[in-house]
Amino acid sequence: RGFLRWTWRLTYIAALGGVAYLGWGIYIMRNPAEQAMPDPSKKTLVILGTGWGSVSLLKKLDTENYNVVVVSPRNYFLFTPLLPSCTTGAIEHRSIMEPIRNFLRHKKVAVKYYEAEATKVDYEKKVIYVNDESEVKGEISSTEVPFDMLVVGVGAENATFGIPGVREHACFLKEVGDAQKIRNRIMDCCETAIFKDQSPDEVKRLLHMVVVGGGPTGVEFAGELQDFFQDDLKKWIPDITDSFHVTLVEALPNVLPMFSKQLIDYTEKTFKEETITIRTKTMVKNVTDKYIEAESTGPDGRKVVEKIPYGLLVWATGNAVRPLVKDLMSQIPAQKDSRRGLAVNEYLVVKGTENIWAVGDCAIANYAPTAQVASQEGAFLARLFNQMAKTEEVETELKALSEKQEKAPNGEARNAVLNEIKELQKRLRRVKTIGPFEYSHQGSLAYIGSEKAVADISWLTGNLATGGSLTYLFWRSAYLSMCFSTRNRVLVCVDWVKAKMFGRDVSRV
Ligand code: FAD
Ligand code: NAI
Repeated sequence: RGFLRWTWRLTYIAALGGVAYLGWGIYIMRNPAEQAMPDPSKKTLVILGTGWGSVSLLKKLDTENYNVVVVSPRNYFLFTPLLPSCTTGAIEHRSIMEPIRNFLRHKKVAVKYYEAEATKVDYEKKVIYVNDESEVKGEISSTEVPFDMLVVGVGAENATFGIPGVREHACFLKEVGDAQKIRNRIMDCCETAIFKDQSPDEVKRLLHMVVVGGGPTGVEFAGELQDFFQDDLKKWIPDITDSFHVTLVEALPNVLPMFSKQLIDYTEKTFKEETITIRTKTMVKNVTDKYIEAESTGPDGRKVVEKIPYGLLVWATGNAVRPLVKDLMSQIPAQKDSRRGLAVNEYLVVKGTENIWAVGDCAIANYAPTAQVASQEGAFLARLFNQMAKTEEVETELKALSEKQEKAPNGEARNAVLNEIKELQKRLRRVKTIGPFEYSHQGSLAYIGSEKAVADISWLTGNLATGGSLTYLFWRSAYLSMCFSTRNRVLVCVDWVKAKMFGRDVSRV
C-alpha cells in the first residue's frame, strides 16, 4: 500500500513537473528576452536561405561573434518531410511552417532578416544583389548587401530536363504553394469529373492522377493521394469511385532506388494492393494540357510511345541547380567542371574561394540531397564559425600579450606574462582542432500509403530494413520528434487527430 501511495505521488509530481516545464517553455517562447544589438566592428556573415541547411546553422551559431544577415524570400522554415501530407489536407500547411522571425528573436544578439531573393552574388566585390519579390513593394525593392563571409543555402529547383510542357502543365511538390495547388487541383478534378453530361472518357481522364518520378517524393505523394481517395473522397463523392486512379511513372526499372531491394519489392507489392499502378521503365518525353507522352521498353526490348491522359499531373523528378548558383559557379574558375551544384571541400568551403561556404542541396559534397545531410552540414558550419571566432579572439589576446612581454622588465613580471602566453597557446591549439565535416547517415524513411512505411535504418551492427504498420508508427514518431518546435509538434498531432475523427476536408478554396 505504502509503495502504491509513493508511486502515485511520484507520478503526480512528475506530471506536475512536465506541465510546469511545458508552461515555462511556452512562456519563454512567447516572451523573448531583450536582445543585444550586433557589434558593427565584427565581420558580416550573410546567410542565404531559410531551409534545412541555413536554419540548422542559425540554430547553433553564437550570433554575438558576427553581424549576421539572413536573406530569403521565404520568411519561415518548412518541415519538408511532412509536405506530401499537406497535399490532401491530412496535415494543414501552417502546422509544418515555423516563422523565421519567432526563431531569430530568441538569438542572444539580433540577426537582420530581409525577405528578398538574392539575384546575384558578386564574388569579387563581396556583394549580394537582392530583390523584394513580394506583392507589396516599397520605394526601394532592390538593393545590395555586402558580406565578409557568405553561406549559400538556397537549395535546388525542380528538374524538368527541358521536357516540353512540364512547367506549363504539371504541379511540383517542393514548397507550401505547390501543396496547396495540388490540394485544390485534386478537388477540382473530382468536381469537374461529375459535372453534368461529362462523357465517360473525359471522366476517366479527369480522375486519372499521374505522378512522374518514383523517388521518395513521388512515392509518398502517390500513397497519400490513394489514402485520401480510400478514406474520404469515395465516401463523400461516391460517383468517382469507379474511375479514380493513381499511376506512378518511373524511368528506371524500379521505384525508390536508394532503398534496399527487399523494401523496393515491399513498396511495389503494397502499391499493387492499394491499386496504384506503377509504370517502370517508362520515360516521359512530352507533356500537353491533357496527356503525357511516355516511352516505355517492352519485354522484347522494343520502345513504344504512348499517350497517357491525365487530370492531375505531379512532377517529382528530383533537383536542378538554381540560376543564382549557376551564375556564382561561372565566376569561379575552380567550379568550371562542376555541373550539379557548388563543389565544396571537406570544410564546406566553396572550392576556389576563401570566404564562401555552401550547405544543403546547392552544395556537392558526395552526399544525397536530403534534409538529413543539409541539417548536419548547417550544424557543422555553426561549430566551425563559433571556433573561428574563438580562435580570432585568442589570437588577438596573444598579440597583445606578446607586445606586453616585450615591454615588460626582466624577472618575475616577464615570467608571469610568458606563463599567460603559454596558457593561451594551449587554448589556441585546443580551439583550432576542428576536424572536417563527416556525415553520419541515420537511415531513410518513406511513407507508402495505407498506414505503412519503409525504413532503412543504420543500426549498431549494420543496416535494418523494415516495412509495414509498425514502421509507420516509427515514421510518425520520428518525424514528430524532428519537427522544428513544440508548437509544430502540437499542431501536427492535432491535425492527425482531426483527420482521423472528421476526415480530410474536401472543400476547394
Ligand atoms: P531548402 O530546404 O530547399 O531551403 C532553401 C532555402 O533557400 C529556402 O528558404 C528558399 O526560400 C531559399 N532560397 C531559394 N532561392 C533563394 C535565393 N535566390 N535567395 C535567397 N534565398 C533563396 N529529406 C530527408 O532527409 N527526409 C525526408 O523525409 C525528406 N522529405 C522530403 C519531402 C519533400 C516533398 C521534398 C520536396 C523534399 C524532401 N526531403 C527530405 C529533401 C529535403 O527537403 C531537402 O534535401 C532539404 O530541404 C535541403 O535543404 P536546403 O537547406 O539545401 O534547401
Ligand atoms: P529523386 O531524384 O529521388 O527521384 C526522381 C525520379 O524521377 C528518379 O527515380 C528518376 O529516374 C525519375 N525520372 C526522372 N526523369 C523522368 C522522366 N522523364 N520520366 C519518368 N521518370 C523520371 O527525386 P525526389 O523524389 O524528388 O527526391 C529529391 C531528393 O529529396 C532525394 O535526394 C530524396 O532522397 C530526398 N527526399 C527524401 C525523402 C525521404 O527520405 N522520405 C522524401 C522526399 C525526398
